[in-house]
Amino acid sequence: MQIGAHVLRNALFVAPMAGVTDRPFRVLARRFGAGLAVSEMISSRPELRDSRKSRLRRDHEGEPGPVSVQIAGADPAMMAEAARENVAHGAQIIDINMGCPAKKVCNAYAGSALLENEALVARILHAVVAAAGVPVTLKIRTGPSPERRNAVRIARIAEDAGVRLLAIHGRTRACGFGGHAEYDTIAEVKQRVRIPVIANGDIETPLEAREVLARTGADGLMIGRAAFGRPWLFRDVAHFLATGEALPPPSPGEIEAVVREHLEGLYALYGEAQGLRVARKHLGWYTRALPGGERFREAVVRLDSVPGQRAAVNDYFARLAA
Ligand SMILES: Cc1cc2nc3c(=O)[nH]c(=O)nc-3n(C[C@H](O)[C@H](O)[C@H](O)COP(=O)(O)O)c2cc1C
Repeated sequence: MQIGAHVLRNALFVAPMAGVTDRPFRVLARRFGAGLAVSEMISSRPELRDSRKSRLRRDHEGEPGPVSVQIAGADPAMMAEAARENVAHGAQIIDINMGCPAKKVCNAYAGSALLENEALVARILHAVVAAAGVPVTLKIRTGPSPERRNAVRIARIAEDAGVRLLAIHGRTRACGFGGHAEYDTIAEVKQRVRIPVIANGDIETPLEAREVLARTGADGLMIGRAAFGRPWLFRDVAHFLATGEALPPPSPGEIEAVVREHLEGLYALYGEAQGLRVARKHLGWYTRALPGGERFREAVVRLDSVPGQRAAVNDYFARLAA
């Protein structure tokens, strides 16, 4: 898989997820074999571009390249400016968000709400491609609603505008996260454009990954929620796709090392007060399927210091090993 001059080691993408796929998560997922990890979306609105949130989201210190930064917005000139600014801060690929149904994004008529207005989509894509000076990729849903699945037309608009790759979440905007992702529209888009198409939505296991690839004919896969607390899922999927063999699950010792590295990354990026809070949800996910996980989670939400959180993690894994 190649995006512009960037050759990826495989076609397995980490889905951008605001509040989850920050730098510490992306670094782990990349190490476990993901070919690319798109950053959390950054607003293109000038008054938000320099907020603390945006600054943390465009912190790529020590992140393996290519660095792909997602921008969100609906004004072509602002989106072009945001692309230029993020490239100046280290983005090597600009990804455009037309897939997110989040209220805050859609109220501002961005994310997947844009799919309603194909002329505006074209203007945004042309403006960003002309401004970025690096490859531009696009993430969409299959359309505004099941009755109006316009992913094929959007894909053609994207291809004509010079977009290099298209990731498609197999739900419409109206679907939110309900029901199951639908892959036939992704298969149809794949037939109709020449740029690489990446299939996304509800891929949870290596076997499902193989099935979605076969069903859609897509050039690659993007995985989001199934990797919560399981960044090694990318290793499992990459290995299974390459060999047809399932890897054994990670040992408790390996999970502990991953958790510790993740937590230290969060404390360093966000500072102790916020890092501690962000860490709680990841700890919940990591221990979801482990013995004694529920008691650990109940205890961890009450801890309000980093040394306390570290000690609880040490204690939990020591008991697990015993
Ligand atoms: C917590 C969360 C945050 C998300 N944030 C973004 C985002 O910033 N940009 C985006 O394009 N999609 C975002 N998405 C959508 C995901 O990238 C992905 O398309 C969706 O979760 C479906 O894939 P999955 O079934 O593998 O999770 C988000 C999803 C979740 C659950």
